[in-house]
Amino acid sequence: MDPIILTQLENGILTITINRPDKMNALNKDVITGLGQAVDEVISNPEIKSAIITGAGNKAFVAGADISEFTDLDGAGGQALAQRGAQLVFDKIENAPKPIIAAVNGFALGGGCELAMACHFRIASENARFGQPEVNLGLIPGYGGTQRLVQLIGKGKAMELLMTADMIKADEAKALGLVNHVVSAEELLPKATEILTRIAGKAPLAVSAIIKLVNTAATVSKDGFSEEIHMFGACFDTEDKKEGAAAFLEKRPAVFQGK
Ligand code: COA
Repeated sequence: MDPIILTQLENGILTITINRPDKMNALNKDVITGLGQAVDEVISNPEIKSAIITGAGNKAFVAGADISEFTDLDGAGGQALAQRGAQLVFDKIENAPKPIIAAVNGFALGGGCELAMACHFRIASENARFGQPEVNLGLIPGYGGTQRLVQLIGKGKAMELLMTADMIKADEAKALGLVNHVVSAEELLPKATEILTRIAGKAPLAVSAIIKLVNTAATVSKDGFSEEIHMFGACFDTEDKKEGAAAFLEKRPAVFQGK
């Protein structure tokens, strides 16, 4: 079986590829574990100066957390899932002392959009699509989406995207400030590499300090993150979450009761 996370080190840049293309690179337990290990390697290996996170195939960056792992989760389980992801991957990427950027090569939905947002900045291919569709499943984002989306695009637009579950195209994501550059699919990794190569010529300690300080400026309070983990867990105790996950897996529209 192919490894679920592929890594390739070239000229100090580690390319980390989530490799579940048949499931749109959805974040299951193993992907979170593997991604966490890859990020640890970025942080601890002096040969690695920076990293790119991308998805295998030409359809998806990551189409969210793996919904098939949701069916048996109750509130405590949902909360533990969100907490584990934050600790192993999302907060670790955000606070990494070396640049980690997302090369978004297709769908970046739910946890995929959240993964891209946890990165220091984002580059997208023209076919990239962004969205937080959790409300379709009777859920809310659990990997920091309600916080980082507000930081990146502002409150009004974040409210709309989170409540409607609308999917937006790469150009709109760029106009909103969610991504920095939109390029063709072929140009995606070369563009990411070109930017990281330029950053590699700068003073590493200064770059680390910038990451830390920009994060400080963008994060007024961490309370929103723990509140989100708590409320994400609470969603798992609702009838609507059972209906939402079942409807997705049965490929039918969900009917919510507000219970
Ligand atoms: N979790 C688990 N499996 C997922 C998944 C997810 N988040 N996203 C996609 N998959 C699976 C599908 O179930 C399907 O599996 P199958 O081939 O065994 O049936 C496979 O990946 C391909 O997806 P499919 O839906 O057939 O592709 P599509 O091109 O018609 O649609 C998407 C692509 C991304 C629009 C659609 O898969 C989707 O809406 N995914 C869920 C997005 C979501 O709600 N994410 C938030 C989770 S909290």
